[in-house]
Amino acid sequence: MDKKKLENLEVHLKVDEKIYPPKEIVERAWIKDYETVYKKSIEDREVFWSEVAKELEWFEPWDKVLEWEHPYAKWFVNGKTNITYNALDRHIKNGKGDKIAYIYVDEEGNEEKITYKELLEKVEALANGLKSLGLKKGDRVSIYMPNSIEAIASMLACARLGIIHSVVFAGFSEGALRMRIEDAQARAVITATYTKRRGKKIPLLPTVEKTIDGLDNVEKVIVWDRDKEGVAKDRGNKFVDFNSLIEENRGNCPPEIMNAEDPLFILYTSGTTGKPKGVLHTTSGYMVYTYYTAKIVFDLHDEDIYWCTADIGWITGHSYIVYAPLVNGITSVIMEGVPTYPHPGIWWEYVDKYKVNVFYTAPTAIRMLMKYGDEIPAKYDLSSLRILGSVGEPINPEAWHWYYENIGRKRCVIVDTWWQTETGGHIITTIPSYPMKPGKAGKPFFGIEVAIVDKNGEELPPNTVGYLVIKNPWPSMMRNCWGQPERYKKYWTEIKNYYNPDDLASIDEEGYIMIVGRADDVISVAGHRIGTMEVESAIVEHPDVVEAAVIGKPDEVKGERIKAFVILKEGVKPSDELKKEIQKTVREILGPIAIPEEIEFVEKLPKTRSGKIMRRVLRAKELGMEIGDLSTLDD
Ligand code: WTA
Repeated sequence: MDKKKLENLEVHLKVDEKIYPPKEIVERAWIKDYETVYKKSIEDREVFWSEVAKELEWFEPWDKVLEWEHPYAKWFVNGKTNITYNALDRHIKNGKGDKIAYIYVDEEGNEEKITYKELLEKVEALANGLKSLGLKKGDRVSIYMPNSIEAIASMLACARLGIIHSVVFAGFSEGALRMRIEDAQARAVITATYTKRRGKKIPLLPTVEKTIDGLDNVEKVIVWDRDKEGVAKDRGNKFVDFNSLIEENRGNCPPEIMNAEDPLFILYTSGTTGKPKGVLHTTSGYMVYTYYTAKIVFDLHDEDIYWCTADIGWITGHSYIVYAPLVNGITSVIMEGVPTYPHPGIWWEYVDKYKVNVFYTAPTAIRMLMKYGDEIPAKYDLSSLRILGSVGEPINPEAWHWYYENIGRKRCVIVDTWWQTETGGHIITTIPSYPMKPGKAGKPFFGIEVAIVDKNGEELPPNTVGYLVIKNPWPSMMRNCWGQPERYKKYWTEIKNYYNPDDLASIDEEGYIMIVGRADDVISVAGHRIGTMEVESAIVEHPDVVEAAVIGKPDEVKGERIKAFVILKEGVKPSDELKKEIQKTVREILGPIAIPEEIEFVEKLPKTRSGKIMRRVLRAKELGMEIGDLSTLDD
């Protein structure tokens, strides 16, 4: 990263306000003394995690907590369990079958509640149905569904049988979906007729139909026919009706006995180079770590109502909408729709209506809602709230304070959780009983040791920006990249033998970590990771384009927005019309989140002698910063 940007950041680092949690929150917290517990967790990591793991149920205990052969980890070796057993059956056995697992709401206020017992019945029926289609342990099934109980049931039905699910965010378009279905060699796709957004029905099934055309690996498409139009019947025997599959297969479905390291799911995420990586998570370590981080960071107690506003299509949805809340046995709200429709107070209306205690969202959403003014949240009774979470990108002190004052009314704590698809669960955060520093994520979670280092892995002094690294394995770490083992190894070998998340950060004298942003060329648009390469490849699909380079530009609300530099074919005239066409191409291939908002037509792109595009130079020029070292620049 160039000098100028570093200097600007270092000015930023001076912010050092400390805010203490209210007494009631500290008194109620599972863990009141972070420092003591942290010390213990580091001194004997294995004892620490085995104590946590004993809070859950196992068909057979593990022989060894950790087997670590850098960079490969096995946790709870030879332990046998099934995450759905801990998420559902265990609670029913303990008399909580009639407790609500999810309250689903849409933008219009339509509501649907499902108890733990009903959810298990649905999952078992669907799992029986998947079995009847010939699907079995180890197969991959892609899920392209709206944020809904049906999507959650689909994920759990897979997990029940040991089928590896690969959820694809329903906002992605055909190209992104195809790459993921093909790479995972999914035997089936579970989808819905449409998803609801801003009062409209956005079709999903037609996208799936186009996508699987020519993909021989897809044998079945299971369709949740939301308006009961009989769409599966009309489309031949490749298509199966989701609801009928459930109705026809009601009955018990015992959980598959899963070995601790049996794969649970793949979730694709973007990097700088190449196609997205299929991040592989396995059963037990993921279960234990997500369960425990949610319990401690959100201080979950049995009576809590919890709402995570993410979508199941991202890791936040997997870990903290689906698995961790269920394994903790609590009641969650889920919503299908956007935070500003039908009005920008809709989230607060639902917090009030459902008496939400723990609310987990992204800085982008906070910054967007902030713009509508303080009067909007002021209209609602938000006194049920206790813990406010933030995830996905750095939360700037201004947004932090707005959240703290206007939503939390200074009675709540904010937990700013830093983590990644690859880490499975929270890695850096403050816990509710610990003092907060606005704009700083906080401290490492239990069992995690981090450092801020230079490229060679040497530790940097406090308040200096460098690479954030994790020094040790943890239970929910990614186990591999699907079909690309060399990309997995890279994470653990680029900076000494540490795990390198490719984020920049600094640490202060008190050990609080401030996350600065990505060190690589990944763009974070509204907290969603977008790979520069993916967008560039989509742009050049336009017949008039020869080459493209994209960068992230700071955006007040979304964190970053995408700007593209495009070289046109000889003789093609630049025009606004063409810009719109290019945007349309990207929308069709990747989806609306990847659209470059700005497009500039250029004659040349800065490249290294080896032909790599120097996005750093483009960014520096765009933002009026010093360009830095140009010795490798060709022209
Ligand atoms: C960024 C999302 C600052 C970071 C859970 C990371 C954050 C990337 C925070 C992972 C946070 C996530 N503060 N930055 N609290 N949380 N990030 O895989 O750059 O979609 O590497 O996982 O988001 O994005 P991913």
